[in-house]
Amino acid sequence: MIAPLTLNVPSCIEFGSGKLSTLPFHLKNQNRIFFLVDAPILARIDPLISELKKSGKTVLVSTEVVPEPPLEALEILLAPVRAFSPDAIVGVGGGSAMDLAKLVSVLFDGKQKTQDVIGIGKVSGRGVRLVTVTTTAGTGSEVTPIAVLTDTQAKLKKGVVSQYLIPDVAIVDPNLTLSLPAAVTAATGMDAMTHCIEAYTNKHAHPIIDNLAIEGTRLIAANLERCIRNGSDLDARTSMALGSLYGGLCLGPVNTAAVHAMAYPLGGTFKVSHGVSNSVLLPFVMAFNLSGNLKKYADIALAIGAAKGHDDEETAFNGVLKIRQISNACGIPQSLKDLNIPESAIPEMAKAALLVTRLMDNNPRKVELKDAEAIYLKAYHGRVERE
Ligand SMILES: [Fe+2]
Repeated sequence: MIAPLTLNVPSCIEFGSGKLSTLPFHLKNQNRIFFLVDAPILARIDPLISELKKSGKTVLVSTEVVPEPPLEALEILLAPVRAFSPDAIVGVGGGSAMDLAKLVSVLFDGKQKTQDVIGIGKVSGRGVRLVTVTTTAGTGSEVTPIAVLTDTQAKLKKGVVSQYLIPDVAIVDPNLTLSLPAAVTAATGMDAMTHCIEAYTNKHAHPIIDNLAIEGTRLIAANLERCIRNGSDLDARTSMALGSLYGGLCLGPVNTAAVHAMAYPLGGTFKVSHGVSNSVLLPFVMAFNLSGNLKKYADIALAIGAAKGHDDEETAFNGVLKIRQISNACGIPQSLKDLNIPESAIPEMAKAALLVTRLMDNNPRKVELKDAEAIYLKAYHGRVERE
């Protein structure tokens, strides 16, 4: 029987080339607008900010976006926003900019502190309009109820999950991704693919989400290398934006699993970017997981263009090898050793990953401490093996 599902999404998603121009329309009833913008994209947003000012609105712009944002970066942002007292908040950029904007939107009024909202369902409400504009394809953060912070003292990523983090409007305009460097395109693209794969093979997978997840996987596998070869290929960029949006829509209702949980310590301790962390670990966690959901991993393999084997097991493993081939072709490191992570860090990383229970609990195969250590060790040496 099909399980019940709650699907909370933004009330408007503007998708497609040129959709950035709809931003002023979505702020027509607001007067004090705070923009948090990734600095490299500010010049693209400037004409829209001028348009808003000309129409009589008061605008405050910050480019204080810190990658893989630590708790302290959020605290620094909150004080000026509190003084400004906006009625709309707009986050423009990659996952870090959008996550910070989402958190600012629920915390600037001072009713709750950051530590109060870490976890699931802890945010008490949001009093301002929230708009996200994604410039990568991508984290999917423009449509999710999730924001992730780095606790630098605990060396851990911490998630805030709440329906109040879901933006009112999400703008996905692939024109904004045309100037992305190849390395960012590769890392964020593999992150998006990981969202789709981890949702499709998830213990809590659902038919509504399966359709988005498998099509997102297909779109990303078919277009990521095209975007790396030619960043200004708008057709490929648009397909990537769609695949990434599908991946983002998977995150609220189903979410990710062991790849993301095991990637967190790489970011928290060694400052490896979220996309690269996921990309390096993805084939090793997939190889471990295959027996937990063989049929669905075989579906994934065929969606990404891997060869059909004589049974699901062979097909699914061909998919693992194909993932590695795609990420390698995109210039992403293939092992923890390549990322200069010492082998001696594995026991601590394995312990930290198991603490991310909100994601580990979704994994199609239970990951014990010894399993996490074994997966990290294989990833350290860059050896993909059939289990
Ligand atoms: Fe992710």
